[in-house]
Amino acid sequence: MRPGRIVVGVDGSEPSLEALRWAGRQASLTGAALEAVMAWELPSHWGWGGLPGLPEDFDMEEPAAEALSEAVGKALPAEQARSVSQVIVIGNATEAILDRAEGAELIVMGARGLGTFRATLLGSVSNSVMLHASCPVVVVRGAAEQSEVSGQ
Ligand SMILES: Nc1ncnc2c1ncn2[C@@H]1O[C@H](COP(=O)(O)OP(=O)(O)OP(=O)(O)O)[C@@H](O)[C@H]1O
Ligand SMILES: [Mg+2]
Repeated sequence: MRPGRIVVGVDGSEPSLEALRWAGRQASLTGAALEAVMAWELPSHWGWGGLPGLPEDFDMEEPAAEALSEAVGKALPAEQARSVSQVIVIGNATEAILDRAEGAELIVMGARGLGTFRATLLGSVSNSVMLHASCPVVVVRGAAEQSEVSGQ
């Protein structure tokens, strides 16, 4: 069988770095290609007219591309990091991940992300990707969250 592609959702949070590490190990075992996806959504009240105070030619993808590349560099050994394809999508995170996962063999996500509302153990993006994905999904729960679960 031809090695497939593993899509990892990365928002820059520690759990998403854990997801990258897990996916990196899995890719080493199977020979799959790794694709890291970061979605970046504008608050809707900014509308289509651009961001107040920013030059018209401001490249909205650039800060996201920098954050993604930093996350990939932090999570993976240098050689593996270089081989990761990095995709920035302007838009909704769930849609972006599901879209990129078409034809992929696996999606890997963190259980939580940058959100600060901690009443649930699973974030909304992970939750809805799990519900709608047509390929297997791994949700990585990091050490910090495990101790939250067990109360230690
Ligand atoms: N903008 C994004 N781009 C790519 N992947 C994302 C993005 N946001 C979240 N993810 C993925 O989803 C995982 C869980 O994050 P999620 O956003 O669901 O939880 P949260 O931020 O803790 O809570 P919520 O966003 O629901 O308030 C992250 O670890 C990451 O793998
Ligand atoms: Mg979030």
